[in-house]
Amino acid sequence: MRRKLAAGNWKMNGMSAELEELSTLARMYPSPTVDVLICPPATLLYRAASTVQATDIQVGGQDCHANTSGAHTGDISAGMLLDAGASAVILGHSERREDHGEQNEDIRAKARAAMDAGLKAIICVGESLEQREAANTLDIIGGQMSGSIPDQSTGENLIVAYEPIWAIGTGKVPTLDEIGEVHDFIRTRLERRFGEGVGRSVRLLYGGSVKPGNAADIFAVSNVDGALVGGASLKAQDFAGIIDALQNA
Ligand code: PGA
Repeated sequence: MRRKLAAGNWKMNGMSAELEELSTLARMYPSPTVDVLICPPATLLYRAASTVQATDIQVGGQDCHANTSGAHTGDISAGMLLDAGASAVILGHSERREDHGEQNEDIRAKARAAMDAGLKAIICVGESLEQREAANTLDIIGGQMSGSIPDQSTGENLIVAYEPIWAIGTGKVPTLDEIGEVHDFIRTRLERRFGEGVGRSVRLLYGGSVKPGNAADIFAVSNVDGALVGGASLKAQDFAGIIDALQNA
């Protein structure tokens, strides 16, 4: 059985004061029946880890460098994330692909580094609106998967997040059939590449405008094992609605 996962991506949001939201969440869910992960900005990671230390809530990074150390001003290694208390790292988010020109090969190298360091890699894939309208969604997702998922992946160290770019932060969500089609496709591809055992054990998250109001419907879709949540992860009350929906799914 795949353990369900509610992952929050704070992106470039959050000052010290926002750790209070995490404290609230920690009080509400000391031992949730699903995995709960918050990925704050790197500046808050260590304190976020301390905030949830006595609970089962986990924290993660939003990116890492492909190298373990060295002359890379401004970058953070996977080992540093682990050292700060992270258990996972989001890689290849469309905002990083867009803002920093990250290519599939870069993401694969980062994922290798993350896995080597002992972190779970949450690898993001997703199509643009243009690509969806041109009926290229599955080709794009397939290409991103082959390019960015490393060979050493297992059900333990890999999580795949399907995030249609046009659904991120827009309030637009694909239909449940569209989500199911992509998630089934991702599952089949993973089984083909890694074998049924590993392919079936990798968790698949949906991301893009997940809110307390639509979470239950999305979690009922086949091969959706949880969500990667941006905006609605910033407030404990909103994220709680999503955690509750997942716990009841
Ligand atoms: P959103 O972001 O929930 O604000 O749409 C999702 C994401 O980018 O991970």
